[in-house]
Amino acid sequence: MADSIKNVAVIGASGNLGKEVVQELLKAGFKVTAFAREESTATFPPDVAVKKVDYRSVETLTAALQGQDAVVSTIATVAVGSQVPLVDAAIAAKVKRFIPSEFGVNTRIVEGTSIGKILQGKVKTLDYIIRKSQENPWFTWTGVSSGIFFDWGLKYGSVGFNKDAKTATIYDSGDEPVQASNLAFIGKAVVAILSQPEKTANQYLTIASFNPSQNQILKIVEEETGEKWKVEHVSTEEQEKIGLEKLSKGDYSAFSNFLRRRIYADGAGHAVLGDKNAVSLLGLQEEDLAATVKAWLRG
Ligand SMILES: NC(=O)c1ccc[n+]([C@@H]2O[C@H](COP(=O)([O-])OP(=O)(O)OC[C@H]3O[C@@H](n4cnc5c(N)ncnc54)[C@H](OP(=O)(O)O)[C@@H]3O)[C@@H](O)[C@H]2O)c1
Repeated sequence: MADSIKNVAVIGASGNLGKEVVQELLKAGFKVTAFAREESTATFPPDVAVKKVDYRSVETLTAALQGQDAVVSTIATVAVGSQVPLVDAAIAAKVKRFIPSEFGVNTRIVEGTSIGKILQGKVKTLDYIIRKSQENPWFTWTGVSSGIFFDWGLKYGSVGFNKDAKTATIYDSGDEPVQASNLAFIGKAVVAILSQPEKTANQYLTIASFNPSQNQILKIVEEETGEKWKVEHVSTEEQEKIGLEKLSKGDYSAFSNFLRRRIYADGAGHAVLGDKNAVSLLGLQEEDLAATVKAWLRG
C-alpha cells in the first residue's frame, strides 16, 4: 500500500472501546470522523467530525465514507452481524483498510465450539471481508483479538473481582493464563496498525496487555489491600452446562458462561504468549499488570 492512512472513520465511536480508540487516534494525529446512529444522543470531542448514519443503507454509508482511508468498527456486539452494508459501502467509497468489530475472542478458531455458535455474526462478517478483499486487492483488512477488556472488566465485575465486597470468583484452579487487554492499549494497537498499513494488511492479530491468571490478580489485590478476599470457586464445566441450557432456550447471555469455560478452564491454552502476542510486530510493549490492578483499587 503506497498511500498512508490519515482519515479514519470510527463506527460506534461513543462506545466503551470506541471512545478510547478515538482518543488514541487523535493523540497520534489522525483525522477522525465518528459515525453514530440517527437516534444516537452521544457527544464527541470537539476535534472529531460526526456523521449520523443509517447502517442499513449502502448508499448513504457510501456518501458518508467519501475521503476516508480506513474504517475502524467498534460497533456494539448486538450489531456486529449488520456490518455487511458498511463493508460494501467502504469498498464503493474506495476505503483502503477495514478493521471489523472483533476485539475479544479469536474468532478464527471457534468453529465447532459452543461459543462459536454465538460468535457467528463476527465470523461471517470477517469471512465476507476476506472474500471482498480477495476480489479487490486494494481493499485490505486487519482483525484484532484482544482477549478480555481488562481495566473495563475490573471496573464492571466481568473479571470476577469486587473491590467493595472484597470478593473474587475463581474459575477452576485459577491458574490458567488469560489473554487480557486494557482499552487504551487496544486503541494504541489500532493506531499502530493504521500507521503500518503494509505490515498489517490482511492479518488477524492477537494482542494482549498481559496474560494474567486469576490467582495472580488475587495475590496482587490481597497484598495491596492487606486483607484476605472471600473466594468463591466455580467449575467451568458447570458454566458450560449452564450456557448450553440457556442457549437451548434462545438465551444469548449464554455467551458469558461459554466464555468462562473457554478462557479460564485449566489447560484452555488461549493465552497469547511469546510470538503469539503481536505487540512486537506492532512496536508496542506489554503493560504492567500490578499497576493496572492498583490503579483500579485506588480509583
Ligand atoms: N473483550 C471483551 O471483554 C469485550 C467486552 C465488551 C465488548 N467487546 C467487543 O468489543 C466491540 C465493541 O464493544 P463495546 O462494548 O465497546 O460496544 P458498545 O459500547 O456496547 O457499543 C458501541 C456503540 O455502538 C453503537 N450501537 C449500539 N447499539 C447499536 C445497534 N443496535 N446498532 C448500531 N449501533 C449500535 C452505539 O453508538 P451510537 O449510539 O453513537 O450509535 C454504541 O456507543 C464489540 O465487538 C464487542 O463484542 C469485547
